[in-house]
Amino acid sequence: MSKHRYAARVRALEMSGIRKLFDAGGPDAINLGIGQPDFDTPDHIKEAAIAAIRAGKTGYTPNAGIPELREAICAKFERENNLTFRPEQILVTAGGSEALHLVMQALVDPGDRVLFPDPGFVSYAALAAIAGGQPVGVPLDETLHIDVEQAKELMDGARLFVLNSPANPTGAVESEESIRALVEYADDHGVTIVTDEVYEHFIYEKKHVSAAHFGDDVITINATSKTYAMTGWRIGYIAAPEEHIPEYLKVHQYAQACATSISQYAALAAYTGDQGEVARMREEYRARRDLLYSGLSGLGLKFPRPEGAFYAFVPMGRNLIDKAIEGGIIIVPGEAFGSRAPDYARLSYATSRENLSRAVGRLAALVE
Ligand SMILES: Cc1ncc(COP(=O)(O)O)c(C=O)c1O
Repeated sequence: MSKHRYAARVRALEMSGIRKLFDAGGPDAINLGIGQPDFDTPDHIKEAAIAAIRAGKTGYTPNAGIPELREAICAKFERENNLTFRPEQILVTAGGSEALHLVMQALVDPGDRVLFPDPGFVSYAALAAIAGGQPVGVPLDETLHIDVEQAKELMDGARLFVLNSPANPTGAVESEESIRALVEYADDHGVTIVTDEVYEHFIYEKKHVSAAHFGDDVITINATSKTYAMTGWRIGYIAAPEEHIPEYLKVHQYAQACATSISQYAALAAYTGDQGEVARMREEYRARRDLLYSGLSGLGLKFPRPEGAFYAFVPMGRNLIDKAIEGGIIIVPGEAFGSRAPDYARLSYATSRENLSRAVGRLAALVE
């Protein structure tokens, strides 16, 4: 028996199925496995970080984030989401990931049920389990949207419901009607809504609707990571009723102290500066979405046209998924995202149009 002992709740966790894939494929592999923008961070954001370093802004910041950034996030909510928050309601974190972790740590007691879409973003179940909660996947309908009626049934007695629109891995955007129905039902049944809106700017036809419009017990999570192509800078935030913030802050100050000072100044430039790059990235993702959707449809693969984020979730079947990966097209099998979609694969279109065309060409040779 090994002398090394680990906590049962961590030992029981699996490594993310996506990370494992980073090592797959030879030099000729086409990578559609990655969940991050392939764009570079816009220059004015980089310049703000460089200026912060030069100005010696390299020490700890207030635990909740620099006041200017918390204010800029409130202004962003006003401008983009028509929601009013005060800086005291904002906590700046090390990416959306830390924000999700803090919420689970502060709100989930052992055994509490935490609901999230299944298939869904890999971290929800893991973070709920790390908090001692019981992760419960909520099924999607055949269009890959949350099945609202089943979600309501599962909500009775639950502690949290994690909403994610636009969604990873499905690319689905929930309708205002569904979001309103879920939030109102949660409100009536004492379930707190956690809404993960990190892909809000990458929607191609519909409109983004923030869940916080429809209830008081709603926690909004967002990040600069996807919107401004800043995954490595590690800036996210929580916006919540003011009395929540000290609870999150307790975990944050002991585990993290503060988000990186330099990145906070970069995020300040992102939220207060020119938003043109975001629109340009959205238009490029749209063109790629169209290219991939028509390419795969042309091969006879049938799936709902992705509405947002930068993923297509495609029922390819296990055989074709395996052949694709063996054939040097890196895609993520559905089981990485939960238990309900083993025959699907997530194809990320956060890569060049040229790569997408090559991937469709290679797949054509594999489809019987
Ligand atoms: C739905 C969703 N939420 C949150 C995150 C985490 O983002 P961050 O890099 O800001 O921690 C991701 C990253 O892939 C995501 O897809």
